[in-house]
Amino acid sequence: MAKQLVVGNWKLHGSIGQIKSVLGEIAQAKLQSNVGVCVPFPYLMLAKQLLHNTHVQCGAQDLSQYHIGAYTGEVSSGMLADIGCEMVIVGHSERRRLFGETTEQAGVKMRAALDAGLFGIYCVGESAEQRREGRAEEVVAAQLQVLQQLPIGLYAVAYEPSWAVGSGMVASSEQISPMHALIKSQLDERVKVLYGGSVKSNNAESILGVKHVDGVLVGGAALSAFEFVEICKAAR
Ligand code: G3H
Repeated sequence: MAKQLVVGNWKLHGSIGQIKSVLGEIAQAKLQSNVGVCVPFPYLMLAKQLLHNTHVQCGAQDLSQYHIGAYTGEVSSGMLADIGCEMVIVGHSERRRLFGETTEQAGVKMRAALDAGLFGIYCVGESAEQRREGRAEEVVAAQLQVLQQLPIGLYAVAYEPSWAVGSGMVASSEQISPMHALIKSQLDERVKVLYGGSVKSNNAESILGVKHVDGVLVGGAALSAFEFVEICKAAR
């Protein structure tokens, strides 16, 4: 089996000092392939420099659905590719919930990312209420619709139930495994499906051992070099 993918999402955290210290330590750890760190836009080029000569890839946390033009504040896929960025997170639950991003917009962003040669990490997941109502599968299936025409191998899907994000409540293997199987059956068995939601060094091994889990998307624990490196070491 190909090595599992571990991606860190820094969200709205970091400074030049913190990026230098954490990514400097990650660079020293000599991690093997299939690791990425997604830092805020202003630190992408610094991250590239710090991770030069390592296998760790750099990514952004969002991108514009537009390629060029009068769209103040936007960052295009072409710009990300131009500075050497290799991957991008799309449709994170925080973008959907806090900034009103729709599945349609996320789909357009995925197309833009792949067209520019970026590896897309497309996030899906249900809220606590949707799970209580027994609608988790239906919600995720609808979010996946926009990926149908995209070439397999150029993207991964991250299953992140929003109730597990930053809450310390990890989804159980009985919740994760069938959802990952559903995602693969709807798209293609070869699509890598990552789990995200309160992944830490002390639970990474068991989460990465769940059937159909091809990696993890890590939020809070990605801000600690020790935590992140330990999680990467748990990848098989
Ligand atoms: O993108 C990462 C996820 O939102 C998970 O965040 O590990 O802090 O729960 P978390």
